[in-house]
Amino acid sequence: MNRNALVDEKKPDRTNAPAKNGRLIDRARNAYWMAPMSGITDVCYRQLMDEMGAGVLVSELVSAKGLVFNSEKTRRMIKIHKNPGTLVGLQLFGDYADDFIKVAHLVQEQGADFLDINLGCPVKKVVQKGCGSALMRDPAYLESFLTKIRRNIDLPLTVKMRTGWNEQELTIHECVAAAQNAGCEWVAIHGRTRVQGYQGLADWDLMAEVKQRTTLPIIGNGDIRDPDRAQSLLKETGVDAVMIGRGALRNPWIFKQCTGELRETLNPTRRALLRRFHELLNPRYDTRRTLLYLRKLAVWLAFGYPGAAAFRGAMFQPPTTREVLERAEEYFTGVDDLPVPRFDESEAFMMGGHG
Ligand SMILES: Cc1cc2nc3c(=O)[nH]c(=O)nc-3n(C[C@H](O)[C@H](O)[C@H](O)COP(=O)(O)O)c2cc1C
Repeated sequence: MNRNALVDEKKPDRTNAPAKNGRLIDRARNAYWMAPMSGITDVCYRQLMDEMGAGVLVSELVSAKGLVFNSEKTRRMIKIHKNPGTLVGLQLFGDYADDFIKVAHLVQEQGADFLDINLGCPVKKVVQKGCGSALMRDPAYLESFLTKIRRNIDLPLTVKMRTGWNEQELTIHECVAAAQNAGCEWVAIHGRTRVQGYQGLADWDLMAEVKQRTTLPIIGNGDIRDPDRAQSLLKETGVDAVMIGRGALRNPWIFKQCTGELRETLNPTRRALLRRFHELLNPRYDTRRTLLYLRKLAVWLAFGYPGAAAFRGAMFQPPTTREVLERAEEYFTGVDDLPVPRFDESEAFMMGGHG
């Protein structure tokens, strides 16, 4: 693992100092947040989920190195939609503290409310470079790494991690202490180890233990598929908020169901959501990308309804967004009166990702 210079003594010490405008978490709209997901939580999807009531939104992971090298593709990934009522964070990954420091101004200029660091990515290509969950293997180094970044950027700093590398290396307590000592605003925890990947269930007991041992806000994450599970995670573990990832893909109404703005029995209109997504995608992307994002959402929304597999096949054939929208309208009109499908948290769905 790279060991770039540790704490810079000359810089002002912002660690453990209360944020200028109070705690960042107190500005969250509610306790039900959208989890970062690569290839999914881009600027358009985040705006859509903002409109669907998510309390806080975090970007997909973006390479700090890519931003240092001014890669056009990476630059496009840090766009932020404007809504003064919502907290939006940009998540970066990397192994050099200096890279984060160099690019923090770009994140700030885009209008991000905080910079989040990915400490949970289990993907081999990422951990081999000492990034993502590899940073959890050495909590002492992690503390110096985060402290250096904290002292050299103006944006609030947050982190998202796993419970450790494996069962023998459950470093979560030490890593949360490292984040707290470094002056992070909160820690989001996906309750699995790196080695677990997406297997088994998220360890909520461990999250409760972490919460008991720290005064830092803790965001619980893993396996929330419906509003009841979100309430249970809050109640059973005492965490300050929850992040919902895959559950929101199939049910983007989950945030409003959690806050009580939507009753669970209400059958929402998937057609309107797809049309809105198209409106957001169209001005930002070329046809190929617009089609890709639109098809993905249509397929997630169909999950659990009769004929969903055939619909999925059909979705990847039409060559134009107009036809995709028409076919989706037709399918969703046919299932509008059916009860909303319920999903079990142990059911396999998208068993891979960058955190
Ligand atoms: C397709 C996919 C991509 C993901 N990408 C990221 C990412 O970029 N950054 C991150 O911190 N976590 C990422 N994750 C992890 C999620 O944020 C979340 O921790 C995980 O899916 C467990 O929560 P869930 O059961 O609510 O989905 C990703 C997960 C999936 C399924």
